[in-house]
Amino acid sequence: MAGAAVFASSFKMMLSFLLFIFLGLVAAEDGLDGWLRYAALPQANRYHHLLPSDIIALNSTKSSPIYTAGIELQDGFNGIFGKKLRISHETRGKPRSSVLVGTLDAYSNLGRDAGDVPELEADGFWLSIKGRNVQIVGQNERGALYGAFEYLSRLAQGDLKPTTFVSNPDAPIRWVNQWDNLQDGGTHGSVERGYGGPSIFFKDGFVKDDLTRVGQYGRLLASIGVNAIVANNVNANFTVLSDRNLEGLKRIADELRPYGVQLGMSLYFASPQEFGGLDTFDPLDEQVIQWWDDMTDKIYEHIPDMAGYLVKANSEGQPGPMTYNRTLSEGANLFARAIKPHGGIVMFRAFVYDHTTLNQTLDWKADRANAAVDYFGELDGEFDDNVVVQIKYGPIDFQVREPVSPLFANLHKTSSAIELQITQEYLGQQCHLVYLGPLWKTILDFDLRVDDKPSAVSDIISGKRFDRKLGGYAGVVNVGTNTTWLGSHLAMSNLYAYGRMAWNPRAGSKEILQDWTRLTFGLDRRVVDTITKMSMESWRAYENYSGNLGIQTLTDILYGHYGPNPGSQDHNPWGQWTRADSDSIGMDRTVWNGTGFSGQYPPEIAAQYEKVETTPDDLLLWFHHVPYTHRLKSGKTVIQHFYDAHYEGSAKAQTFVPQWESLRGKIDKERYEHTLHRLVYQAGHSLVWRDTVNGFYRKMSGIADAKKRVWNHKYRIEAESMKLSGYELYAVDPHSTASNATAIVTCSNSTMGIAETTSPFRSGTYDLAVNYYDLAIGRSQWELFVNNRRIGTWEGDSEYVLGHAPSIYIDGISAMRITFPRVKVRKNDKIKIVGKPDGDEPAPVDYISLLPPGKAD
Ligand SMILES: *[C@@H]1O[C@H](CO)[C@@H](O)[C@H](O)[C@H]1NC(C)=O
Ligand SMILES: *[C@@H]1O[C@H](CO)[C@@H](O)[C@H](O)[C@H]1NC(C)=O
Ligand SMILES: *[C@@H]1O[C@H](CO)[C@@H](O)[C@H](O)[C@H]1NC(C)=O
Ligand SMILES: *[C@@H]1O[C@H](CO)[C@@H](O)[C@H](O)[C@H]1NC(C)=O
Ligand SMILES: *[C@@H]1O[C@H](CO)[C@@H](O)[C@H](O)[C@H]1NC(C)=O
Ligand SMILES: *[C@@H]1O[C@H](CO)[C@@H](O)[C@H](O)[C@H]1NC(C)=O
Ligand SMILES: *[C@@H]1O[C@H](CO)[C@@H](O)[C@H](O)[C@H]1NC(C)=O
Ligand SMILES: *[C@@H]1O[C@H](CO)[C@@H](O)[C@H](O)[C@H]1NC(C)=O
Ligand SMILES: *[C@@H]1O[C@H](CO)[C@@H](O)[C@H](O)[C@H]1NC(C)=O
Repeated sequence: MAGAAVFASSFKMMLSFLLFIFLGLVAAEDGLDGWLRYAALPQANRYHHLLPSDIIALNSTKSSPIYTAGIELQDGFNGIFGKKLRISHETRGKPRSSVLVGTLDAYSNLGRDAGDVPELEADGFWLSIKGRNVQIVGQNERGALYGAFEYLSRLAQGDLKPTTFVSNPDAPIRWVNQWDNLQDGGTHGSVERGYGGPSIFFKDGFVKDDLTRVGQYGRLLASIGVNAIVANNVNANFTVLSDRNLEGLKRIADELRPYGVQLGMSLYFASPQEFGGLDTFDPLDEQVIQWWDDMTDKIYEHIPDMAGYLVKANSEGQPGPMTYNRTLSEGANLFARAIKPHGGIVMFRAFVYDHTTLNQTLDWKADRANAAVDYFGELDGEFDDNVVVQIKYGPIDFQVREPVSPLFANLHKTSSAIELQITQEYLGQQCHLVYLGPLWKTILDFDLRVDDKPSAVSDIISGKRFDRKLGGYAGVVNVGTNTTWLGSHLAMSNLYAYGRMAWNPRAGSKEILQDWTRLTFGLDRRVVDTITKMSMESWRAYENYSGNLGIQTLTDILYGHYGPNPGSQDHNPWGQWTRADSDSIGMDRTVWNGTGFSGQYPPEIAAQYEKVETTPDDLLLWFHHVPYTHRLKSGKTVIQHFYDAHYEGSAKAQTFVPQWESLRGKIDKERYEHTLHRLVYQAGHSLVWRDTVNGFYRKMSGIADAKKRVWNHKYRIEAESMKLSGYELYAVDPHSTASNATAIVTCSNSTMGIAETTSPFRSGTYDLAVNYYDLAIGRSQWELFVNNRRIGTWEGDSEYVLGHAPSIYIDGISAMRITFPRVKVRKNDKIKIVGKPDGDEPAPVDYISLLPPGKAD
């Protein structure tokens, strides 16, 4: 009998286990749970006897992060092991075989010896895993929740090893910023530089009624130790202060509170005037001061635990204190004093520059990169102690490679935070795989040598280096309503890495990535190794096929910040200059002959950047203006490095596709296909990048590629060389975003176009690639024929699918490639493209390529 019962129950367990496996493999995964899927471990039932059987969460208030921790643990055990644990909120007698989670106070109140628990800092936790007895003690409530997530992360990765340790955050401020507008004129709140759909917070000018996604976002953020979020855009609007919106913000804060995530707010500096009806917004005016005091009191009535304010002032059209000849610190302190009685802080952005006066032609020494230190350096010591200056990692704006902002080394008596961007504004907008962990590491680890002493950026912002109580991290995330959050499954590694690095900047970017991969895609070794390899190569690959040697990313900075447009950098007042001319390139930022920027660093670093010989190659053109023929430390000339890097980087991007394809069947179909589509797109767009940038500098410098690749594409047939009817030539601007500077477009937007040619290549099997342009103003259709056999048909619908800032022009943003693999084409076979325009999109085509399998072009 007993044997039969055991058999029956293990049979049942096996069934449920098989069911788990089955669900795990086929269940459509839409990304909503991110890395918190709690996917079943293989043979999960094997572990049941090693696991606790009860959860004791030492708080029964539903809004308490401890309560949340209890639920989360229950879900985790259920998902990972198929084991249902009971939750109680108190202990009776001496509990055995339980996970206990609570604050240090609650723990001591149980009569436990708090002496077991080493010193904890705010938000820190102590985790003790001893067989079936697990204790998670937080310095505060959210610390305990962080500990629970840490424990679950181990379990989900199959790690049940006993351990006891303390984990304290490196810095107190670990915020995310969303750049969500309340309204964009349409029906949704738009997200500035957001590529995952409309806002989860706002709609039609108000906070949304349904905030389900906000709670889910809070959960993801809590699991990586993020403790506050600013939901409304730094380019703020006073409408956020309306009664209805304050009521709405209260609801947002209520959704986030169970996760220990506090809400902060972006403020519009001129609100007292434009919203309050005063005739001024002068920060020293008594009425203005009173107005902000009253408004702050009102906000705290709605949200008693509001984290603080975020302010962008006197930058890119935003009003600020300088309108009244007041200093930026006077502006920041206005808010600091209003919020101080409530315990809040002010994050004041250092991204202040004047884009109206910079003139590159007139002034060799003009330099936007100087602005932050110019504005803020002399204000050190003038800020109240609850002000934190929020500084972008580099002096310009989230470029693929920048030196560390020297402002970090210039504020000794002011708290500072680093601003990182999870949303890939200049870095492929989540349509290119670019794992940013390694980039952030180069910044955080950088030793600024203030006073010739070790001064890592991470130690400055944590407050350790200059003995500041405040400081930390602000990450611009910009999730949207898409179930993938960011528009791309793989891009979520950046959000995960952000939180993990803000907690512990010494953690390795590769190890973090591997944790993320196991949690997101499972423990299969091949899956983990492949995604790790691709991701770890991706930033340098992107740098290689975009902007090299510190010249900045070379995206179209006047439009979209997405596709390549090197010419857009110069001859405008935005100051992202390259100063490229026919024989030389780069910004002379030296003290002796240039803009003086290098002198903003402490002496050791300044000396290094001052000289060409001691400047690392990858920042050469950031600091120096040199001939294209200048030889790098690698021995290559600057121009040849450009050519080579672009070929190597785009070749690397081609390899992401087969690497991903090798995981077919090991990842659920939904995420597999979604990701594959993007990687194929990236492979094609990396070639657009390569050819645009190489073509641009080939033309400008007049120097040929030593390896004879640039402007010499042996597998290509230009569309303009084909026999056209209903199609006509179109001179593309910027010229280098089209092969041979020319594309074809239909003659009208209501009639089809046909382009025909015969294959000049010898008979064989080819990958047939078509480079075309998909604009945001129509859904053209294309058909491709070999003889009269239809090889394929496609639509210009990427603006609905990819999520990057689309273009209404024929340019490097709209340029893309589709490939039909393994097509048999004999010499002289007729190849035909039929284009059907739609709206204002004239079915544009750039060229076709007949590629021997394995060749990119
Ligand atoms: C329980 O949680 C609530 C909400 O977070 C909190 O106000 C309260 O102090 C907690 N109680 C204990 C005993 O920690
Ligand atoms: C704020 O929003 C209102 C309503 O949408 C709009 O009229 C106003 O121009 C906006 N102000 C700013 C500074 O963006
Ligand atoms: C600010 O100062 C400048 C020069 O000192 C002066 O011309 C201007 O009128 C002042 N502006 C205000 C608003 O006080
Ligand atoms: C998410 O975005 C992708 C494109 O990025 C799109 O294909 C998909 O339909 C979107 N899904 C949702 C639920 O919005
Ligand atoms: C810079 O100054 C030159 C010479 O006066 C002028 O031609 C050019 O338009 C100015 N450029 C900008 C961006 O203002
Ligand atoms: C020094 O600056 C001038 C512009 O003022 C520039 O033309 C020249 O190339 C620079 N010299 C060197 C050696 O970089
Ligand atoms: C990037 O280019 C450099 C220089 O050509 C090369 O050494 C490196 O391997 C390339 N890396 C990637 C990932 O493309
Ligand atoms: C390049 O484009 C020009 C027109 O812009 C055209 O006359 C020429 O034939 C094209 N070259 C090739 C190889 O198609
Ligand atoms: C052609 O373009 C015009 C002007 O944008 C537009 O009004 C019209 O609807 C378009 N026609 C077609 C057939 O798409």
